[in-house]
Amino acid sequence: MSAVPRRILYLSRADVTAAGGSSSHLFVEAVARALALHASGAFAQPLKPYLRWRPNGHVADRIIAMPAYLDGDEPVAGLKWIGSKHDNPRLGLDRASAVIVLNDAETHYPIAVLEGGLISAWRTAAVTAVAARRLARRDFGSIACIGCGPIGTAQVTTLLEQFEGVRTVHLFDTRRDVAEAAAMLLSARFPVAAVTVAATAEEAVRAGDVVVTATVTESPWLPFAWLSPGCLLSNVSLMDTHDDVYVRADKVVVDDWDQCNREGKVIHRLVASGLFSRAELHAELGQVVVGERAGRENDDEVIVLNPMGMAIEDVACAQAVYHLALDAGVGTWLDLA
Ligand SMILES: NC(=O)c1ccc[n+]([C@@H]2O[C@H](COP(=O)([O-])OP(=O)(O)OC[C@H]3O[C@@H](n4cnc5c(N)ncnc54)[C@H](O)[C@@H]3O)[C@@H](O)[C@H]2O)c1
Repeated sequence: MSAVPRRILYLSRADVTAAGGSSSHLFVEAVARALALHASGAFAQPLKPYLRWRPNGHVADRIIAMPAYLDGDEPVAGLKWIGSKHDNPRLGLDRASAVIVLNDAETHYPIAVLEGGLISAWRTAAVTAVAARRLARRDFGSIACIGCGPIGTAQVTTLLEQFEGVRTVHLFDTRRDVAEAAAMLLSARFPVAAVTVAATAEEAVRAGDVVVTATVTESPWLPFAWLSPGCLLSNVSLMDTHDDVYVRADKVVVDDWDQCNREGKVIHRLVASGLFSRAELHAELGQVVVGERAGRENDDEVIVLNPMGMAIEDVACAQAVYHLALDAGVGTWLDLA
């Protein structure tokens, strides 16, 4: 029997941050690369299984396995294993927790294990930023974010880092203290933007050129009428919109149709009730990234992005972090033998 290959690199959250994970830039680049590979079919990504064991449990109580292989200049495979419990924040814990395993594409041996919660938040925000570059109004100046936990905060941080023209941020959270804490953090980091907490979700949404949902709701609250002309909605939390949002939007863009049309999420529900179909879909985001399908075509279009979240995005981001960590000598080596 041949010798067990060497060792794996373990990167804690602090290591991920030290290697370059303290800002959005590497994640936006990695996600754009993954989306381009998605458009060319240079990937493998089985449908992600949702592990649940409590009958009638909360929609956000689950552990998801997200495996993927990415082709390209440096092929790599990997898995994000992400837990979620809706009431973790009450215990002072993040709702989501994750590890990402990277595997060598030749031998299939694991080469790294990374703390995945931070990478997951940044990559989810990077998807919105990559989309906003092509689907938001070129001159957009305001963001609305509904739900101000780690995901919402990462979304706004990334948009503020990537788009210098943003001057106003409207936050809303059913927990006002959470929205206020996020506003304080964002104001300190981005003094150029006026960050305010709205009295209602409607007030925030109506003021946003780019609107992000990052809640953990199980029931829709966002009607089409609240979206202003020219708005891009990034429906990150997937369950927030009334049916008319997808039906009346000028363009609906998903990350991956097959991944989106399942698990009772909004697209799945709309397709099941005959209100939406693949024929009505404008594009998968990768097609817009590579120029195969149009992005925004005028200043009045209302565009909805439905990002289910793809393992190829996590693997691409983790690979970028891994390389930076190797270069910087960050992390802890663990023997496999
Ligand atoms: N699409 C993707 O790729 C992707 C990736 C990661 C996370 N997510 C989703 O993002 C969401 C947020 O994640 P998180 O880790 O920040 O969760 P979290 O529980 O830490 O934060 C959610 C916040 O939303 C608030 N909230 C709940 N219902 C609300 C409502 N109806 N209106 C306004 N605020 C409301 C809560 O008070 C809380 O502060 C989750 O639903 C998660 O599944 C999506």
